[in-house]
Amino acid sequence: MSTETSGLAIETAGLVKTFGTTRAVDGVDLRVPAGTVYGVLGPNGAGKTTAVRMLATLLRPDAGEARVFGHDVVREADEVRARVSLTGQYASVDEDLTGAENLTLLARLLGHGRPAARRRSEQLLAAFGLTEAASRQIKHYSGGMRRRIDIAASILNTPDLLFLDEPTTGLDPRSRNQVWNIVRAVVAQGTTVLLTTQYLDEADQLASRIAVIDRGKVIAEGTKGELKASVGAGSVHLRLREAGRRADAERVLRGLPAAEVQLDGDPVALTARLTATAGDSAAEQAARALAALTRAGITVDHFSLGQPSLDEVFLALTGHGTGQEGLPSPDDDPKDGVAA
Ligand SMILES: Nc1ncnc2c1ncn2[C@@H]1O[C@H](COP(=O)(O)OP(=O)(O)O)[C@@H](O)[C@H]1O
Ligand SMILES: [Mg+2]
Repeated sequence: MSTETSGLAIETAGLVKTFGTTRAVDGVDLRVPAGTVYGVLGPNGAGKTTAVRMLATLLRPDAGEARVFGHDVVREADEVRARVSLTGQYASVDEDLTGAENLTLLARLLGHGRPAARRRSEQLLAAFGLTEAASRQIKHYSGGMRRRIDIAASILNTPDLLFLDEPTTGLDPRSRNQVWNIVRAVVAQGTTVLLTTQYLDEADQLASRIAVIDRGKVIAEGTKGELKASVGAGSVHLRLREAGRRADAERVLRGLPAAEVQLDGDPVALTARLTATAGDSAAEQAARALAALTRAGITVDHFSLGQPSLDEVFLALTGHGTGQEGLPSPDDDPKDGVAA
């Protein structure tokens, strides 16, 4: 495989990790360009954490090879470790210490002198919106604050490659946005980020390229544009005034080009999956769908235009869902909808 001059932060070939009879990572080939955010998208149990742990030298691959900035993760583990950071792993915060104490202590452990450690700590607390919480114990932090301090701890020394393993899972939309802004700022400083996520919109917001993994295998890889072109542009979720009109609405929508209709559990709700092309955006298609329903005399009480969920991506790519259809997603927030 190539060396550091290849411009790749990560390069793997046939990477495998087995636990008993589970092939957690089952022959993964990845090429992550340096200086970018690379998204690894997959449901629970897909093998994301196992792959990250091998790349971060915490777990030994059973087969295949992986290089980080040209260094083999097994034979040159020290060189790799010197250049990477993994949130919540190398730098884990102490619940009983305050935010400021944690960062200052970790900076001291990394070899900074006392004044430099305090300076770096203050700088990061300010950058992460934690100045006010600096003198509070971590155990009293909210989930979003906790995630931010974890990331702060992992970039005390600016790493060349930062692994963020599901940095926003379980966070509310506002906290997610704060974490996203932090990731953008980290990359702007030249760090490569490997981000794992269960949310397509998160990969879409942050990543230049995305690998979709399922059961230890990469099932799709490309730029976000390529990925979206292969899975569709999203969906219109509709709620009708009268349940009795749903069959009519379904017929009207099926008559439109490029819409795949799905009936939801709720008797007044249905979803049309859109397959937008260059000249025909998802918004235009959604507008056409609403107009057609209006012409048919069907009253729509509420609609929202959503990006494809991970489940829809999986359905499009594999013909099966993630097996986590009931999983709450930040995309499902009804406040995002538009009353019709
Ligand atoms: N230490 C372990 N021992 C046994 N099985 C494991 C271990 N770590 C992960 N697995 C299994 O490997 C698969 C992939 O897990 P993981 O890499 O954690 O996926 P993800 O991070 O995508 O949710 C799962 O089936 C999981 O149960
Ligand atoms: Mg995981």
